[in-house]
Amino acid sequence: MNFENQTIIITGSTRGIGKEIAFSFAEKGAVAIIVGRNPDQAAAVAQEIQEKGYKAEGIGCDVTNLEDVLKMSNKVLDKYKSVDILINNAGITKDNLLLRMSESDWNDVININLKGVFNCSKIVAKMMLKAKKGKIINISSIIGITGNAGQANYAATKAGIIGFTKSIAKELASRHITVNAVAPGYIQTDMTAELKDSVKEELLKSIPLGQLGKPKDVANVCLFLASDEANYITGQTIVVDGGMAI
Ligand SMILES: NC(=O)c1ccc[n+]([C@@H]2O[C@H](COP(=O)([O-])OP(=O)(O)OC[C@H]3O[C@@H](n4cnc5c(N)ncnc54)[C@H](OP(=O)(O)O)[C@@H]3O)[C@@H](O)[C@H]2O)c1
Repeated sequence: MNFENQTIIITGSTRGIGKEIAFSFAEKGAVAIIVGRNPDQAAAVAQEIQEKGYKAEGIGCDVTNLEDVLKMSNKVLDKYKSVDILINNAGITKDNLLLRMSESDWNDVININLKGVFNCSKIVAKMMLKAKKGKIINISSIIGITGNAGQANYAATKAGIIGFTKSIAKELASRHITVNAVAPGYIQTDMTAELKDSVKEELLKSIPLGQLGKPKDVANVCLFLASDEANYITGQTIVVDGGMAI
């Protein structure tokens, strides 16, 4: 796979899965645009990538803010002349049981995980429509498929992403733009680091492949879905969970 001369925007790439996706595409020749709310962190990750001899740029942007997304995307388009791949990866959790979940925790998760995907897709799809090509990959979660007690807000966003993916896949297909989702299981990042050891042990018992996933396991699927080898795949959700949801 070769992504030379392609520009990829990865939201939420200052750490975790997004950062690994950024490195994976940069290693294959793409210009990786690192996006997070903190511009210094985004610049630091871009510098790490550049120090390895690859191309990257960090831009501070809050995906919940449409104006911010427009500015970030225009900056990328002006400088690199195309946005070839968009990975909607930024996401958070604010877990609680329904009766204890505050309205603000509901709103925060919906705004970042779901409205953020709408904002970035709307702006970048317009650029891709003009170019008559593009790849959009949305990071969902198996929780959006199975549900999980204590994660009603998160599950609603991740299930919403799957419906959104199918809908815009239909809208954009005639211009050779594919839209797919990846639904990871439990991947070792800051998001899952907070889990107690006893919870991790229980989780491991429910994973047929017997281990938690790594960010690279998710990045590998993104590489495939963004490549020409996946040109005939759209509207799909690929589960990367060690068999957990079987
Ligand atoms: N880890 C897992 O087990 C797992 C499983 C299934 C799905 N996922 C999904 O995979 C994605 C990445 O998860 P992760 O574990 O890598 O999370 P993480 O380590 O917590 O990283 C989250 C990233 O999102 C960014 N972000 C948060 N709010 C943002 C906003 N409003 N605008 C722009 N960027 C924002 C963060 O940067 P700033 O805070 O600096 O903005 C950070 O770079 C998420 O969508 C998550 O739901 C993760």
